[in-house]
Amino acid sequence: MNVSEALEQRKSVRAFLDKSVEQDKINAILNAAKHAPSGVNTQPWQVAVVTGERKQKLQDKIERAFRSGDKGQADYSYYPNKWIEPYKSRRKECGLLMYSTLKIERNDKQAQLDQWAANYRGFDAPVMLLFFLDAGMEAGSYMDYGMFLQSIMLAAVDHGLSTCPQASLADYSNIIKAELNYPKDSILLCGMALGYEDKDALVNSYRTSRENIDSFTRYFS
Ligand SMILES: Cc1cc2nc3c(=O)[nH]c(=O)nc-3n(C[C@H](O)[C@H](O)[C@H](O)COP(=O)(O)O)c2cc1C
Repeated sequence: MNVSEALEQRKSVRAFLDKSVEQDKINAILNAAKHAPSGVNTQPWQVAVVTGERKQKLQDKIERAFRSGDKGQADYSYYPNKWIEPYKSRRKECGLLMYSTLKIERNDKQAQLDQWAANYRGFDAPVMLLFFLDAGMEAGSYMDYGMFLQSIMLAAVDHGLSTCPQASLADYSNIIKAELNYPKDSILLCGMALGYEDKDALVNSYRTSRENIDSFTRYFS
């Protein structure tokens, strides 16, 4: 598989087979992704690979917090406080696409909540990856991390695996850091579900759209 094919094939997967991921594959993916560039080669990534009983225990705590009404508190702001166009519409379309695929009605708040809660179980994937940044690192490291994260996702595709990056998990950074013993002042950027795609699952049956390049590119010569 070449890079362009991996780029096109990667998509967010939200239902996985009940099949564990071989440790060798996890290591191969991280070994590939570690070649991502970073400013002055800082390599600011700190990855927690959570599986098995530890994952179960962690996700139970997070889902319980979510369902009890605890909205959590992320270490940084991923989304804008005030949504402007065209992002507002794209965000809406993204949600509608998933809920309409799952035939979840606009006013069925319980079904929407249950679907969202799946985030906190890492979509029941066998592996939950969590990505930390040391306190004091700045915006450049967030950029570096984006490259690392995409590298993981592409390498996963190359190994026949699927992913879903998850900002939602960052909301429960206090629970996650306490459970996994990461420093309180570290920054939990996001999580990621990793596993084998359940190709029969409805939630995996759609693809999101993309703008044409002329909508975001200007040429100067
Ligand atoms: C950093 C990051 C965080 C994300 N967080 C979530 C999340 O918490 N839950 C979720 O279902 N999808 C999440 N997504 C997936 C996006 O919704 C998805 O990438 C987008 O709709 C484009 O679809 P695609 O990944 O299938 O191409 C996240 C994506 C990124 C890059």
